Amino acid sequence: MDKLFAYADRQRDAFVDGLKEFLRFDSISSDPARAATCAKTAEWIAAHVKGLGFQESRVIPMEHGHPLVYAFHPGPPGAPTVLIYGHYDVMPVDPLELWTCPPFEPCIKDGKIWGRGATDDKGQVWIHLKALETLLKVNGGKLPVSVKLLFEGQEEVGSEALTAWLPDHADLAACDVIMVSDSSMLSKGVPSINYGLRGLAYFQIELEAANGDLHSGTFGGAVANPINVLAKLLADLKDADNRVTIPGFYDDVLPISEEEKANYAKLPEGTAELLAGTGAPAAYGEKGFTTAQRTSARPTLDANGIWGGYMAEGAKTVLPAKAGMKVSMRLVPNQDLKKITTAFREHVKRLTPGAVRLRITEMHGGRWFLCPLDEPMIQKAAAALQEVFGHECLFTREGGSIPIVADMAAILKKPVVLMGFGLNSEQAHAPNEHFDLENFHLGVKTALVYMQKLGS
Ligand code: BES
Ligand code: MN
Ligand code: MN
Repeated sequence: MDKLFAYADRQRDAFVDGLKEFLRFDSISSDPARAATCAKTAEWIAAHVKGLGFQESRVIPMEHGHPLVYAFHPGPPGAPTVLIYGHYDVMPVDPLELWTCPPFEPCIKDGKIWGRGATDDKGQVWIHLKALETLLKVNGGKLPVSVKLLFEGQEEVGSEALTAWLPDHADLAACDVIMVSDSSMLSKGVPSINYGLRGLAYFQIELEAANGDLHSGTFGGAVANPINVLAKLLADLKDADNRVTIPGFYDDVLPISEEEKANYAKLPEGTAELLAGTGAPAAYGEKGFTTAQRTSARPTLDANGIWGGYMAEGAKTVLPAKAGMKVSMRLVPNQDLKKITTAFREHVKRLTPGAVRLRITEMHGGRWFLCPLDEPMIQKAAAALQEVFGHECLFTREGGSIPIVADMAAILKKPVVLMGFGLNSEQAHAPNEHFDLENFHLGVKTALVYMQKLGS
């Protein structure tokens, strides 16, 4: 271990320089104009991994979507195989004017690296690549375990291509444990493992009353106003206790077990820390649950965007023809995506008066994930985190979604270790995304310890 840590310490700056290079790719998966960039990013990673000494490293084109990076390097006979999953795609960067350091020109400041993808997920992917580099360089090209890498370019848009690909390539991805670093630790200095993720159901709703905008004097009172109808519809989706009103919405929600309640009680009260820096005056959410529970074990419904009508300077008396919104729900065990989708559609139809035309479009979705707290592979990972961070590893359920995790668990039938090194304050998906470099270096060491543990 000493030799490995010494190498990682010596290479600190070189590791960070490499990450900078990775962050310079503007691999925004949702932008069709950047498909070539995404492909280039995949090629660059595959070449880098090959350069580390991997036996096999290649780019796999996807029929509908950005290419996958797949790599393999064998360990000693009989050693377990670790599949490391991550994503090289990133979210869009708007509003651009709020970035202090341009999103694709990374800089180092205050012990952090700044740029789009720094924490989600390029910085966390880089942790594993640099841990693997360390093992290969120090041990003359040998790894303590067999390693497979699977890096996709579409996580931020729902992982559709990988979801379609995986069932037919279960042999190629076969492994003993799946490692994912694409989430957050509890707080700086407090390592944690996520034993759950929420799912996602995402819709666009459009309402149309007339073929075009109308004079609100002539037609106000005769023709429905789609903005008014939309606002009422959205408001009606929740009640006064902030509970979702869709019939049956909570039917399958797994109550928080006694074991879990005890686990929640072990976590520090993190509401103030979570809100710090957001500018939010108070916490807000479903009645009867703590913030920690509401952001992990309880489902939510939120509008993500809303549009319609006259929004320019001054007043214009007009009855807008159209209005729309994007609405998403974070789902939890054991809510069924299909069942919720149907219930949502029916409820929205019921709430919409016949005086407007309604169109509901399904955007991407994703299944939730939950695994037992006492899973041995997770306990081993917790031991590695504790060793390196010098603090007990806590167990949390993550509020975000990583759609492919549930599929990997179901298809490969192996435990998933969600070992996140991000911080909730690192502005993922927002301007000025960054990644704590101390966590990056500790992450490399944790990956080293974990792989050594798995190999022995
Ligand atoms: N890395 C995140 C998942 C995540 C979110 C982990 C928050 C920890 C905290 C992932 O890249 C992500 O953003 N997922 C999307 C999924 C969606 C686009 C299908 C999400 O949660 O919104
Ligand atoms: Mn991510
Ligand atoms: Mn993300």
